[in-house]
Amino acid sequence: MDKMVVQGGAQLNGLVKTSGAKNAALPILFATLLAEGEHVFRNVPRLRDIDSTVELLASLGCQSKWDLDTLRVRVKKAGSLEAHYDLVRKMRASILCLGPLLAKYGEAVVSMPGGCAIGTRPIDLHLDGMRALGAEIQLDEGYVKAKAPKLRGATFVFETCTVGGTENLMMAAALAEGTTILENAAKEPEIVDLANYLIAMGARIKGHGTGVITIEGVQTLRPAEYSIMSDRIEAGTLLIAGAMTGGEVTVQRIKPAHIDALVHKMREAGFRIDEDSDSVTVHPTKSWKAVDVTTNPYPLFPTDLQAQYMAMMSLAEGTSVITETVFENRFMHVQELIRLGADITPKTRVAIVRGHRGLKGAPVMATDLRASASLVLAGLVAEGETIVGRIYHLDRGYENLEKKLSALGAKVRRQE
Ligand code: EPZ
Repeated sequence: MDKMVVQGGAQLNGLVKTSGAKNAALPILFATLLAEGEHVFRNVPRLRDIDSTVELLASLGCQSKWDLDTLRVRVKKAGSLEAHYDLVRKMRASILCLGPLLAKYGEAVVSMPGGCAIGTRPIDLHLDGMRALGAEIQLDEGYVKAKAPKLRGATFVFETCTVGGTENLMMAAALAEGTTILENAAKEPEIVDLANYLIAMGARIKGHGTGVITIEGVQTLRPAEYSIMSDRIEAGTLLIAGAMTGGEVTVQRIKPAHIDALVHKMREAGFRIDEDSDSVTVHPTKSWKAVDVTTNPYPLFPTDLQAQYMAMMSLAEGTSVITETVFENRFMHVQELIRLGADITPKTRVAIVRGHRGLKGAPVMATDLRASASLVLAGLVAEGETIVGRIYHLDRGYENLEKKLSALGAKVRRQE
């Protein structure tokens, strides 16, 4: 099992480019099931989760072909309408094939994703929404068995803001009869990217990026070409890496507005940060103040940057309170950061971080995608060597992170 070996103490300086956004590419790849023919995507990141999605699409009859970072997906009438447990358990986002299969073929059998390290990850709102559009849903032997000869537009109010739920419903509604209104919809930039791709395919969508999305169903959709947006979570992770090591790092290919909540907190902590149209620069800072953060749906502070932010607060002057409101168990990185010498008291959904200089390298274990990133970041500043195990978690969502960090001056290498 691969490990990441990090020597602490190097200052990161220079320019680094983000890759395409995993959490935009995944729903967009599932949207291809809505239209037979060849879809072409540029700026697709080479990640394990993308490979898992390509594998699942192949099991449904789609052929994919890579050409550098361009991915061609040829969709033909689905040979199978079943997303098997073996594929779905590797990647929860596979539930996003439910909406497209139901809308296009009138039925779908999708394994329930099951939970993961950060929470129970229910899909009740996805299913309630499909029922609102007229689908018959049964849960049987660990599978969602859905049928809908024809989905009909409806108004559906999400009782909790859900990114995946909003995406699944938007895709299902695109081919439903009549108009669907999604209220309390998620506003993440990845929702907007998916809506833009659906519109390129001929869908009629308005309000994406706001809490009320209106989808007017159409008869058919056609394959299109699209360039995936940049990964704002990777951008935030790289900016924090530069900041923690006291260097000057410019993260390129990012819309500053997409990481506004993080930049606001970093400025409050004392970092000098400049922005231009598609890049953000953090300037050298020797020390920074502890600043509380609470994670929330976009445009507030993203839960996907909480672990990385906690690593930075472990070295701050003072005590910060980090509150995780989105997932119920997203502090798996805390015990590992404590192994590196961090002073953190985790409670339910709240962690108290007493910042101090002087983490010391040690072997640690990645438990989930963003936790693994936070451990690598901590290793950049811990004295001595930090070995992060189970790095396959990192490979789910970061393309060539060690290459990007090394190019900035970090001493980090992958060990088979
Ligand atoms: C997406 O997950 C992202 N994954 C997650 O990124 C991200 O952390 C999350 O959104 C929040 O921003 C992808 O886009 C592939 P949710 P998703 O549905 O859609 C509750 C990463 O690190 N909920 O917005 O699964 C749920 O329990 C990953 O890249 C229900 O109660 O998240 C949670 O508390 C991790 N019922 C809250 O909503 C439902 O039917 C937000 O979950 C669905 C969700």
